[in-house]
Amino acid sequence: MSAGRRIALVKWARHHRAFVIEDDYDGEFRYDRQPVGALQRLDPERVIYAGSTSKTLAPGLRLGWLSAPGAMIGALAAAKEHADRGTSILDQLTLAGFIRGGAFDRHIRRMRGTYRRRRDELVQLVAAHPGGARLAGIAAGLHGVLYLPGPDADAERLRSRAAGNSVAVETLASYWRHPPDPCPQGLVIGFGTPAGHAYRPALRALMRLL
Ligand SMILES: Cc1ncc(COP(=O)(O)O)c(C=O)c1O
Repeated sequence: MSAGRRIALVKWARHHRAFVIEDDYDGEFRYDRQPVGALQRLDPERVIYAGSTSKTLAPGLRLGWLSAPGAMIGALAAAKEHADRGTSILDQLTLAGFIRGGAFDRHIRRMRGTYRRRRDELVQLVAAHPGGARLAGIAAGLHGVLYLPGPDADAERLRSRAAGNSVAVETLASYWRHPPDPCPQGLVIGFGTPAGHAYRPALRALMRLL
C-alpha cells in the first residue's frame, strides 16, 4: 500500500477501535525497492504484527512471532498454549542466538541476492517465450504466478506434464476459494526450493512444456 493508504488504514482502526493484523510473512524478500517499514510502527496499539521464519529459514521449523499491544499478550500466550502446548524452547533459543549474533541478517541479505537472481531468470525466460504467458506477483516473495493465455489454456495438464518431467509446480486453482467463479488458468511457480544446480534446467523444462 502507498504511504497515504497505510496512514488512512491506521486512522480507520483508531476511529473504530479496531485492530489491523499485519501478516508480513515474506516481507524480507522485496526485490525492486527498499523494504517498506512495518505498518505496526505507525500505531503499535492498533496493529498486530505477525512474522514467520517459514520463508526466511524453513517452513518445517514452525517458528514465528507476534508483536502485539501489551494488554493482549497474556491472552495470546494462553491461546497459543491451548492451541499446541507451546513451541520447542530449544528451537526458540537457537533462533534467538542466530538473530542476536547477526547471522540471521547476513543470511537474509545473501538469500535476497540469490532469490532475486532466480526471480530475474524466471522473468527473462517467460519474456523470451513466444506463447504470451504473463508473469505476476514477482516484486516480492518466493513465488510467481504464471497466467496462461488463450481459451484452450489448461493449467492442470501443464502441471501434470511438468510433474512427469520432475518439475513440481501448483495450479492457481488449487488455491482458489471462490466457486462458482471460474479460476484463471495459471501456475504458481515457487523458486525458493530447488537446489542451485537444478533450478535452470527445471525452468527450461517448464518453458519447453509451455
Ligand atoms: C498469507 C500467509 N501468511 C503466513 C504464511 C506463513 O505461514 P506459516 O508460518 O504457518 O508457514 C504464509 C505461508 O505461505 C502465507 O501465505
